Amino acid sequence: MKLAVVGGGSTYTPELVDGLGRLQDVLPFDELVLVDPAEDRLELVGGFGQRILDRLGHPGTLTTSAELEPALDGVDAVLLQLRIGGQAARHQDETWPLECGCVGQETTGAGGLAKALRTVPVVLDIAERVRKAAPDAWIIDFTNPVGIVTRGLLNEGHRAVGLCNVAIGFQRKLASILGVEPQQLELDHVGLNHLTWERAARVDGTDRLPQILAGHAAELAEDIKLPAGLMTSLGVIPSYYLRYFYAHDEVVRELVEAGAAGSRATAVTAVETELLALYADPTLDTKPDLLAQRGGAYYSEAAVQLAASLLGTGATPAPQVVNLRNNGTLPFLPDDAVIEVPAHVDHTGVRAVDVAPLEPLYAGLVSAVTSYEHLALDAALRGGRQRVFEALLAHPLVGQAELADGLTDRLIAHNREHLPWA
Ligand code: G6P
Ligand code: MN
Repeated sequence: MKLAVVGGGSTYTPELVDGLGRLQDVLPFDELVLVDPAEDRLELVGGFGQRILDRLGHPGTLTTSAELEPALDGVDAVLLQLRIGGQAARHQDETWPLECGCVGQETTGAGGLAKALRTVPVVLDIAERVRKAAPDAWIIDFTNPVGIVTRGLLNEGHRAVGLCNVAIGFQRKLASILGVEPQQLELDHVGLNHLTWERAARVDGTDRLPQILAGHAAELAEDIKLPAGLMTSLGVIPSYYLRYFYAHDEVVRELVEAGAAGSRATAVTAVETELLALYADPTLDTKPDLLAQRGGAYYSEAAVQLAASLLGTGATPAPQVVNLRNNGTLPFLPDDAVIEVPAHVDHTGVRAVDVAPLEPLYAGLVSAVTSYEHLALDAALRGGRQRVFEALLAHPLVGQAELADGLTDRLIAHNREHLPWA
């Protein structure tokens, strides 16, 4: 079996390689190819990845390639984890929206739209080349914004599934609170990528979420940075991305106060420099603790489980939370919308579990953001100022025409080099 990771020069990759090494029984592979145009990073990350596999006694080989095509020959699954424009572009996404009083974030709001516009055409081009070289290969998309990117991939008929680590993070956290194994805990996780709520946490069919909220709301509130009282009153756990909606103005104030030097991109850039220096040490063969400062916790476990189920190597475990076509699961959304819910996964693909009707409290927001995602994808595919403007106008965090206008100008000005039509 052969796996390829596009964006393999990412400082995240050792997290993935470590998971692949540890879970070699679940997803045995002969070859893992890391693909990245940044050859200097690729060499460092590739060398370190090989040392991780060696230490774990993995018999597979790790290779690197600056070119896509050689990596695709005979590939069974391709993981996409790229970031067009790198942390520099992310820093822009996180800062210019603040000039209009809007949240600056890489996947939510105007910054997320900028990222979608830069990313979708590149991912679709890669997917086309995957289809040509290996028509049966599965594409696992971790590239943000995952909802919009996955929707673009599925519209083009690709064998793609979108993945995010928010759900597996909650599964781990809540299982540890309850003192059970993560596999024993089944989440009622519902919504869109980066717009989800945990409505139940079942162990042997019993919902333990009320008990969790009664005893641990304060601890969970620290993780998601929303008030404990909000969670206990609603009886659900929103993902931390809901903070950009439920506490929008507060977040904007914090970000403005932190200034450019306080952006997440600035912090990540510093961590990455340190990580790459560590990876260069030829004696290092275990994941450094510093890697935990990145947001990708458990990404490797989620990706390995998903790939193993899609490729039919491991036993098909409990439902896994993925991004997939709605197809009636949330009846108030179009069938071609991409939602994030638990799904049965096997070699034939992904099938959403039955999801209880979504309460109006959440359905309105999900509906509005789904419409935004539709317009965002259209803007990414066809370009044009008016399409960007309309996507922003439809976004519940923007909504006003004057605001959408100002954001549109800024988005285009800051992303010209990535937008051929601009
Ligand atoms: C979480 C999200 C990912 C996102 C990451 C950012 O893991 O689910 O979609 O890419 O956070 O982490 P970073 O360390 O880059 O801020
Ligand atoms: Mn994510």
